[in-house]
Amino acid sequence: MCYACHSRNSILSDESFPTHRLHLDQRIPCSACHDAHGISSAQGSRNNHTHLINFDTSIVSRDPGTERLEFVDTGVFQGICTMSCHGTQHSGQVY
Ligand code: HEC
Ligand code: HEC
Repeated sequence: MCYACHSRNSILSDESFPTHRLHLDQRIPCSACHDAHGISSAQGSRNNHTHLINFDTSIVSRDPGTERLEFVDTGVFQGICTMSCHGTQHSGQVY
């Protein structure tokens, strides 16, 4: 559905998020990370909800070490993820 408008080629060749393909190959849905309907202004901020990132908590949980569930935008195609998902812990994982 998303590829009706967004380029499948571009997403799968990691032109923006450098590990799109790595995640999609594990059958993780777009909605695990993106909220395509947008994010409430009360929840959004310049640093933590850009690119429609809003982790789906039925799939993604807090990082057990830090107890945090967080995305931080640190610039163009750069960010930091803290959460636990697909059996992998991301404790301040930088991309
Ligand atoms: C009808 C066309 C259409 C469909 C279908 C669509 N999008 Fe979008 N999407 C857009 C447009 C237009 C923008 C705004 C692009 C811009 O600002 O440059 C956008 C923006 C985005 C962004 C933000 C880009 C950024 O970096 O700020 C993300 C993420 C996104 N869409 C994900 C999705 C996902 C996931 C789906 C499937 C559930 C989806 N889109 C389906 C048209 C669509
Ligand atoms: C594991 C989390 C994750 C998954 C799954 C994921 N994305 Fe993303 N996506 C990101 C992140 C993080 C960014 C922001 C990259 C940046 O600009 O720093 C992003 C950026 C984007 C953008 C904006 C930049 C661009 O390439 O135009 C679009 C559109 C997008 N994703 C669409 C999708 C679609 C469609 C899917 C499913 C097929 C998907 N994403 C799956 C994490 C994810």
